[in-house]
Amino acid sequence: MTDKRKVRKAVFPVAGLGTRFLPATKSVPKEMLTVVDKPIIQYVVDEALEAGIEHFVFVTGRNKHVIEDYFDIHFELQQTLRERSKKAEMTILAEQLPKAGTVSFTRQQEPLGLGHAVWCAREIVGNEPFALLLPDMIMRGEPGCMRGMIDLYAQSGGNIIAVEECAPDQAHKYGIVGVGETVGDGFRITSMVEKPARGTAPSNFFINGRYILQPEIFSILEDQERGAGNEIQLTDAMLKLLKSQDFAGYVFRGETYDCGAKDGFILANVAFALERDDIRPHVEAQFKALVQGLK
Ligand code: UTP
Repeated sequence: MTDKRKVRKAVFPVAGLGTRFLPATKSVPKEMLTVVDKPIIQYVVDEALEAGIEHFVFVTGRNKHVIEDYFDIHFELQQTLRERSKKAEMTILAEQLPKAGTVSFTRQQEPLGLGHAVWCAREIVGNEPFALLLPDMIMRGEPGCMRGMIDLYAQSGGNIIAVEECAPDQAHKYGIVGVGETVGDGFRITSMVEKPARGTAPSNFFINGRYILQPEIFSILEDQERGAGNEIQLTDAMLKLLKSQDFAGYVFRGETYDCGAKDGFILANVAFALERDDIRPHVEAQFKALVQGLK
C-alpha cells in the first residue's frame, strides 16, 4: 500500500561549501546571505511552515554555527529593543523564532554530497516520510511549492518531486524526470536522469529542489556509492527507490530563484524589493534608469 503518513518533518541541508559565493562564504554561510532583509534560509523555512511542517532539521557543517544562533533568542538584543520601545523590531524577532523544541541540528562532517547530507538526518527523521528543501532555492507562488506538494501527497502518497519546465535545449543542465500517466494533480515519474547528454532528456521537466521522501531512502543512501563529482548523489538513490516505490511529479508554476548562483540571488533581491511597499517607491525609478542606461 502506498504510504500516506503525515509529513511532519523537513530537512534542510546547509553543509555545502558555497564556493560560488567566495569570498563572502569564507565567514558567512550562503544560507545567511540576505534577500532584502531576511536571510535566504528564512524564506525556505517560511515555505515549510506554510505547508504545515512541525519540525525543522538542519544538516550543518563547519562555520555554520550562525545558522543555529539565528534560530535562537538573542537576549541582549531583545533587552535593548525593549528599553528603547522598538516594538516593530521586537515583533519581527518574535515572529521569526521557531517554537521551542521544533528545531534540530546535526552535522555533516565532510561535504560528501547532497545524498550524504540527507543520510546524516536519518536518526532525527526516524521511520517517517519527510520533506526535503534545498535551502538555496527560494520559491515564490500561491500556494507555496511545498504546500502544493503536500496537497498532491494527500492524493497520491509515496514520494513526490517538484519539477518545473525548462527550454528543451537547457535540459542537459538539470536533473530531469520521465513523465507517465496522470496521478491526482500531478503525474507518475517513470525515470530520472542527472544532467542528461544533449538530445537524450526524457522530458523538459527538471527537479527544482523540493522533495517528499519515504524513509526507505535512508537505507539506500547508507550503501550508495559515490557518483558524479565523486559525491553521494541523491538522484542515484531515488532511482533505486523508484524500483520499489511510486514517485509523483508536482509541477510548480510559481517563480524560483536559484540563490546558490549570483544571477539568481540578485534577481531574488530585486523581485522581493519590488514587492515591498516600503522599498518599491524608492528604488523602482532607479532600477529602470539603470537598465535603460545599459541599453
Ligand atoms: P550545492 O552544490 O548547490 O551547494 O548543493 P554548495 O556546494 O554549497 O555550493 P557551491 O556549488 O560550492 O557554490 C545544494 C545544497 O545541498 C547542500 C548545500 O548546502 C546546498 O544547500 N549540500 C551540498 C550539503 O549540505 N552537503 C553537501 O555535501 C553538498
